Amino acid sequence: MSENTQKSDSFEPRIVAFFCNWCTYTAADLAGTARMTYAPNVRVVRIMCSGRLDPQFILAALRDGADGVLIGGCHPGDCHYQEGNYKALRRFILLKRMLASLGIEEGRVRLEWIAASEGEKVQRVINEMTETVRRLGPLRLEQRQMIPAEAHGSAHAAAAHGGNV
Ligand code: FES
Repeated sequence: MSENTQKSDSFEPRIVAFFCNWCTYTAADLAGTARMTYAPNVRVVRIMCSGRLDPQFILAALRDGADGVLIGGCHPGDCHYQEGNYKALRRFILLKRMLASLGIEEGRVRLEWIAASEGEKVQRVINEMTETVRRLGPLRLEQRQMIPAEAHGSAHAAAAHGGNV
């Protein structure tokens, strides 16, 4: 077994998940009560809408120890606040560009629309994401240190302007 294989076998990714209260968080609850098992690597933070997710939260999670960030929101057209998930999507696209410019791999952040009834999808997405980040390995210290404490780039501008970019 190579050294790299050993590393990825023993590495347990830390993933922070920001889940919308009305859909994905409820779906995660459903998965739990239905005893659907999923990787224990995810720490869930409940937010009231994916549109509430400031890109700074994602950057802070990566800077402070997460190896990946998962975002779950209501399906397009189902947001309880009309357009929060569309804003989340626009911000997410900009954030991914910013992370790519810092050399942070695409697979470390993921956005999914998961309805309250989709417990199985929560299970699948969490398991897939855990495997993806496990393959990527830990986010390196140099990568974390490059993440700005205050993002002045386009992702922050999107947050400041409600994502209307
Ligand atoms: S209320 Fe769920 S994404 Fe807006």
